Amino acid sequence: MVTAGPTIEDLDPIRFISNRSSGRMGIAIARAAAKKRAEVILVHGPVQVRLPKSRRVRTISVRSAADMRKAVMQNLQHCDALIMAAAVADFTPVRVARQKIKKAGKATWVVRLRKTPDILAEVGRHPRRPFLVGFAAETDNLLAEARRKLREKNCDLMCANLVGSARGAMGGDYNQVALLWPDGRVERWPRMRKEVLAEKLIASLWPLICQHANREQRAR
Ligand code: CTP
Repeated sequence: MVTAGPTIEDLDPIRFISNRSSGRMGIAIARAAAKKRAEVILVHGPVQVRLPKSRRVRTISVRSAADMRKAVMQNLQHCDALIMAAAVADFTPVRVARQKIKKAGKATWVVRLRKTPDILAEVGRHPRRPFLVGFAAETDNLLAEARRKLREKNCDLMCANLVGSARGAMGGDYNQVALLWPDGRVERWPRMRKEVLAEKLIASLWPLICQHANREQRAR
């Protein structure tokens, strides 16, 4: 299973909070996995690129972080790996107004937000979790933050990418990642097109995912 794109958190019938993710990285990963003959479930938010047409990729369209969590949890049990490339919103409005919020009489508007469920962390706590890959989006302290997330979310790999600058990953065609492994290894990959990166990533992960799946099968 691969997740892709942003999520949308509604404020009222016409306004929402979201982010700059295009979905390109996750979709490229889903394509690369299908090319390797994997059966892929692609859970995606509102993306700006075309979805794969392959019969090996089942797409599930979601809107909010809560929707994405539901889709991931419902489909998790048959998955050997979960690659969370989605830029899941961290906060969602406490209340969604049923009518358009009007500006009359307001000089400012304070919106109260609450934390969304952390999907990756939740899956990481499962005793029989699939092989788990996260994507850490950072503007500062790239490696330290990615290492913390690798540990706290109990992942098998954290791909650290810089976001926020003009050359940053979010919304663009290129990405530059550092791969952080649980044994402390850090692999710095050069900047490359997301499609190329996806193929390289799937090629590296393939034997590890197979190993993980075999181990799980023996344990059953
Ligand atoms: N993630 C998730 N559920 C969330 C938020 C993030 O599953 N509610 C996943 C992302 O898909 C990504 C990983 O967690 O694979 C890291 O996401 P990131 O946004 O970098 O980190 P956060 O844990 O949200 O922390 P912060 O935003 O404070 O850096």
